[in-house]
Amino acid sequence: MIAMISLSCREPDPDDGPFPTDYERAWTEARDGCTLSHDHELRYIRVFANDGALGPYTQQDAPYPVGAALLKAEYDDPECTELLSFVLMEKLEAGTTPTEEHDWTWRRFDAQRREVFDRRAIPTTCIDCHAWHCEEPPYGWDYTCPPGSIEPTPR
Ligand code: HEC
Repeated sequence: MIAMISLSCREPDPDDGPFPTDYERAWTEARDGCTLSHDHELRYIRVFANDGALGPYTQQDAPYPVGAALLKAEYDDPECTELLSFVLMEKLEAGTTPTEEHDWTWRRFDAQRREVFDRRAIPTTCIDCHAWHCEEPPYGWDYTCPPGSIEPTPR
């Protein structure tokens, strides 16, 4: 009984789930604070990188190691106070995804960190846009879109 009570009262583990609950402290903000997204939904965004992703994302001088992860938090307002959702990419071992997924996971979560599954859109729309927008220099770095990358010509 005591064990059951202590289990049910357990504090959520900050490392539970695909990204830490305290990502704002545990990971590093990898763009200049709250900015307007370049994608089509006109959201305001903040991007956070874990230790493995930070260097490759900000310097673009080394491949992303396995486990490198980038989190984009999406907001409704220009001060980034009204959180709407998250998107997350994590680098996997080479050859472990279908070729078109480029050894990344492509995932979306709502503001409560619940994963959003939409087979028509995820991961295909993510990959289509990232492949077009930021597959490689000077447009991006291994399908990520770091700040300062050149915008591709609109198609
Ligand atoms: C219409 C184009 C488009 C679509 C669709 C899209 N992205 Fe992005 N994504 C971008 C751009 C451009 C950036 C750079 C930051 C910005 O301007 O929003 C970005 C940034 C990111 C980042 C932060 C790291 C980086 O590359 O800068 C992650 C993580 C991410 N997207 C994941 C996803 C996932 C997962 C999906 C699908 C659920 C998705 N994206 C769909 C264009 C897109």
